[in-house]
Formats: sequence, structure tokens, C-alpha cells
Amino acid sequence: MKLWGGRFEKDTDALVEDFHSSIAFDRRLYKQDIQGSMAHARMLGRIGVLSRQEAEILLRGLDGLLADIEAGRVEFETGAEDIHMNIEKLLTERVGTVGKKLHTARSRNDQVALDLRLFLREEIDATKDLLVRLLRTLLELAEKHKETWMPGYTHLQKAQPISFGHHLTAYVQMFLRDLGRLRDTRRRLNFSPLGSGALAGTTFPLQREAVAEELGFAGVTLNSLDGVSDRDFALEFLGAASILMMHLSRLCEELVLWSSGEFRFVVMDDGYSTGSSIMPQKKNPDVAELVRGKTGRVYGDLMALLTVMKGLPLAYNKDMQEDKESVFDAVDTVKKSLSVVEPMLGTMQVDKQAMARAARQGFTNATDLADYLAKKGVPFRQAHELVGRIVLYCSKRGLALEDLTAAQFREFSEVFEPDLFQTIGIEHCVRARGLTGGPAPEAVAAGIARSREILAEL
Ligand code: ARG
Repeated sequence: MKLWGGRFEKDTDALVEDFHSSIAFDRRLYKQDIQGSMAHARMLGRIGVLSRQEAEILLRGLDGLLADIEAGRVEFETGAEDIHMNIEKLLTERVGTVGKKLHTARSRNDQVALDLRLFLREEIDATKDLLVRLLRTLLELAEKHKETWMPGYTHLQKAQPISFGHHLTAYVQMFLRDLGRLRDTRRRLNFSPLGSGALAGTTFPLQREAVAEELGFAGVTLNSLDGVSDRDFALEFLGAASILMMHLSRLCEELVLWSSGEFRFVVMDDGYSTGSSIMPQKKNPDVAELVRGKTGRVYGDLMALLTVMKGLPLAYNKDMQEDKESVFDAVDTVKKSLSVVEPMLGTMQVDKQAMARAARQGFTNATDLADYLAKKGVPFRQAHELVGRIVLYCSKRGLALEDLTAAQFREFSEVFEPDLFQTIGIEHCVRARGLTGGPAPEAVAAGIARSREILAEL
């Protein structure tokens, strides 16, 4: 017998039973569901809808049920449709008729909205913790590599010399923004929809605010239709998760490149690499690749839920049951990815020499040579043209700029003096860029200090 079976004359078709049942995945919300039910029952007891004893029986029953589920002693039923009705049914089996009073002044519509908010609030906190750990590892690594020179790229062509620490602190900024987005999402999510009922609230004098407070919410939702039909909080999480994954993916893409034989900037620890079933020499950066690949899943989760929501009339529609698998999948994927990237970075070896060697190739100091001329009064556009010709001259002969003699430089322009050699030294090029946000070691150090402060405030 269905909990809603009164107006039905026939059983649900067996195929439909399986098709619309969500217990296979929403069982994951059992803890939040019981937590919400307990707060609801307590409040029903306070306002006299339930007697004190009835409320007490429900609370004890729910508590025992929670313990039994946690101990793996409970079997859920597909026929009982979802986690909400499974729990109500199990509770009633345990405590008798009073179990049937629990759902007074409540609908599964406000119940599921509540459960999902409670679930995501916890998972946002867990994701934030993992992100903070990743940030700390990145900051430590950046601190260590403030003077590890490497080429910076645009178009994946060598551009100007920077430091590895500078490169890493770019990711620190991205992940700090991700942390901020998660915090904002949590702030907007943290309102209780309970009391919205099916869509039109209820005639019972519920204490919405007190229940919200008990469940750790900052307040209650302000429209009952919106309370049951809003999934913005899930979409915001998926959006924040997608951007976070995009950042992880870019970082992992760089690790894949850097660990290749062509770059050799880093060597991944054996624990974070895998081999080939046929090629004995192979050591592949699979972990980094897989994080890059899993980014697509999370985008898919976001797209799936956006698409589920886009045509729905107010208020609740069964389509919304599809929200959960996307949210669960994204939560799991993001947490696993963060968990694995952090130690992968922490254990990776950095080849400073290889980085510095690469930084000295590819005319990464050409801009500095043009700036040298500009500082001596040559209009920058002319300086650019002139250095371009010197680069062409050198590249035809397999030389670097610093391989030319002072006399050769003076053949290009009388403005050149021997002090130019100091200007175009790779290390000097980096050290001279000390503006806020720049690659000079002091600027990177200041950025690290500021980032640590922001981290402590969050
Ligand atoms: N299992 C449902 C879901 O996840 C719970 C709400 C069902 N409400 C309803 N009116 N059928 O969305």
C-alpha cells in the first residue's frame, strides 16, 4: 500500500515503479531527512499539534532508525519510492500509528528542498576545507620557488621570464576566487524552505523561524512557491564547482605538459603516475589527465540541471527529482579531484635547471631589450622594430641576444652601451618586474603574504 494510495484503484505499473523511484540514489539524504524530521516533530510538539509524548516517541524512533541505517541494518524499498517515504514507512513500522502524524503540515516538496540544502551545505564546507589544503600546499610551493626562473608563455610560445613561484600564485588567485564563490553560494543557500508545504504553505501555525534556527539556517525562505521550486543553490554550487574544476584542469594540463620529455620541468612521483601495459618505459601522468577529463563530467552536471529547470512551471515538478544525481556526482568528483591534486603537487619534483634553461631560450628577454632602448629615449615602436631585426639576425645564426658583442649591438644602434648586458640577463628581467602582481621575488612574496591573510579571513 502506497502512502498516497487512497485515491488509487490500481497498483502502479511495475515498470513505472522502477522508473520513478529515487531511493537508489536519494538514500544518500537519509541523515538530512531524519535531521529535518526531528526538528519538524519537535516543533509540532511545541505548538500542540502533537502531544509531548507523541513528539517524544517520534524523536526516539527517528533516532533509532538513524543508528540502524548507519549500522547497515536497514533495507530500503523501491516500492516506497524515495528516501522520505521510506523513512516514514520504517518509522511507522517501529513506532506504530503515531508515525503517521509526522507528515502533518509538511510535503515532500518542502522536505526534499530542505534535505538537499542541508546536504549541500555540509558538502560545500567539506569542499572548502579541501580547497584550503590545496591552497596551503600551493602557497608553500610558491614560497620555495620564488627564485626558480622559468619561461612564461603566451600562445604556448615562450614570452617573458617569470618564476615558478609566480606561476603557481596565479593558481592561488583562481582558487581563492573559487573559495569565495563557495562561500557566497553557502550564504544564499542557508535559508530553510520548511513550511512551504506542497506549494501554498499550511494552515497549521508552524514555527518556521525556530525550526530554521535549530537546523542552523540564517532564516527562512520568503515565498512558499519559490521555497519548493527553487534549485538556484544547487545550480550555484554546480557553477562554482565547474569553474573550480576548470582551474584544476588547467593546472593539470600544465603538469601533463611539464612532465613530458619535451619540457621536463617536473617529475611526478611514482605514486601519482601509472605505467603502460605494453610499453615498458612509460610513466604517464594519468592522475592529472583524469582530473582534466573529470572536469567534463562536472560541466555535464551543471548543464543537466540547468536544462531540467529551464522549462518548469511553478512550483514543484517531478523533473526536479533529477537534481540529485547531478549534485551528488559533482560533489564526489570535485572532492576526489581536490583530494588527489593536493598530494600530487606536494610530492612532485621540480627541475629548476631545466626551467631556467628553458627561460634562457627563445628570446624571452627581447622585451627588456626594447624597454632598454625606450628608456634611453627611442620611441617604443621603433625600439620594437629594431629588436625584432636583432632577433631575426640571431635566430638565423642560432644565437641568443646575449651572445652578440657590444660592437655588434652598436651596428644596430648607437644607443646601445655595455650596460645592456646586465639588463637582458634572465634573472634581472624577473627581478626588475616588482610591481604588485609581478614576478619579482619580493612581489611574489608580498602576494603570498596577502593571499595568506585572505585565506585566514575566509
Ligand atoms: N523524490 C522526490 C524528489 O526528489 C521528492 C518530492 C516528491 N514530490 C512529489 N510531489 N512527488 O523530487
